[in-house]
Amino acid sequence: MTTQLPAHGIAWEELQRQMKDARSNDADWRGGRLPMFIHYAGEDVLEVAKQAYLMYFSENGLGPRAFCSLAKFEAEVVAMALGLLHGGADACGAMTTGGTESIFLAVKCARDRALARRPGMGKPRIVMPRSAHPAFDKAACFLGLEPVRTPLGADFRADMAAMRAALTPDTAMLVGSAPSFPHGVVDPIPELAALAHEHGTWMHVDACVGGYFAPFARELGADIPDFDFAVKGVTSISADLHKYGYAAKGASTLFFADAASFALMGYHFDDWPRGQYFTHTLVGTRAGGAIASAWAVMNHLGQDGYLRVTERVLSTRRSMQAGLETLGLPTLGNPQLSIFAFGSPLHDMAAIGQGMAARGWTVGYVTDPPGIHHMLNLTHEPVVGRYLGDMGAVLRAPQTPSMAGQVSMDARY
Ligand SMILES: Cc1ncc(COP(=O)(O)O)c(C=O)c1O
Repeated sequence: MTTQLPAHGIAWEELQRQMKDARSNDADWRGGRLPMFIHYAGEDVLEVAKQAYLMYFSENGLGPRAFCSLAKFEAEVVAMALGLLHGGADACGAMTTGGTESIFLAVKCARDRALARRPGMGKPRIVMPRSAHPAFDKAACFLGLEPVRTPLGADFRADMAAMRAALTPDTAMLVGSAPSFPHGVVDPIPELAALAHEHGTWMHVDACVGGYFAPFARELGADIPDFDFAVKGVTSISADLHKYGYAAKGASTLFFADAASFALMGYHFDDWPRGQYFTHTLVGTRAGGAIASAWAVMNHLGQDGYLRVTERVLSTRRSMQAGLETLGLPTLGNPQLSIFAFGSPLHDMAAIGQGMAARGWTVGYVTDPPGIHHMLNLTHEPVVGRYLGDMGAVLRAPQTPSMAGQVSMDARY
């Protein structure tokens, strides 16, 4: 039977009961059993994010004149973030609703700049390492560009020779990740930006994961190269507030090294009976709550708060890596931030994942080589011992071999 709109409204108490029931089989993120989707920085931060969201639940980021407080929050979020990312005097940016939107807009700006500068060019290309997020291919598909993925080096970072070889006069954008989602490693941004600069091409740094994590991790000693506007040649950076900014979902940022590049992101229209329409974003209506929550959480955590949470996530990663290494499951590459993947050719990683799933862990996979993937947050801190204990038990138990292709099947979100 198809569900129909109920003929008579149902009381909230009853709906709440139904919703609690419906979510009873969802993944247990609070118990640290989910390897992605959630970025938790403690109850106090969650409460601030929620309360700020609720205060602005009805307000709309589309109306900065009506909701001048939201315009002020957004400007302050952008300014605080540019301070973290070494934005110079000309750097600017805006909030968007997520990493994918930030990437779409960066691709659109790069495409428009290339088409304006190189009349007669062919279909604009995005050249990126194989580890770049699918949002680039999605944007290329929607916006009429050709995505080109290059092989990774042995350390799972962009291979400079492969990136250089892929460049053609039609290349509109070069991409590097800080870090990449699959292996959590940071691409050689200074080298990529120098290549882009030499070629007169737009350089985008996808710091959706690392934008609000890497600055603090570096302060705590993480060994990663410069990845932000400190690097000459970086044109734009995407950084998600709803990941390690710990804001409510629906909040990302996109930054540009200069105002002329930023101007390509704005869209103005007035040829209709309702006057001027202008947005910086792909979407029109934006949840006021997401903007408010980003502003409130950034101010609530402050530099010292982000440092404290980052330190705990880094130490969770190190404990997991050390324990897994002891079990014969080494880390892939040398990740320095919040994401890592592990695996060994001596094991059937899909079968191990299935063993962990049978013990109640939601498992994320990488495919190349086969491995298991984690994007960490504070929910994982208390369950490291339990995870490693279960992993040890899975390795000791007789395993049912996985079916061919099981990892790539299971690797879906
Ligand atoms: C490196 C990277 N870029 C972009 C995105 C897309 O972000 P969103 O899911 O917010 O659109 C993600 C999501 O995990 C990511 O890891």
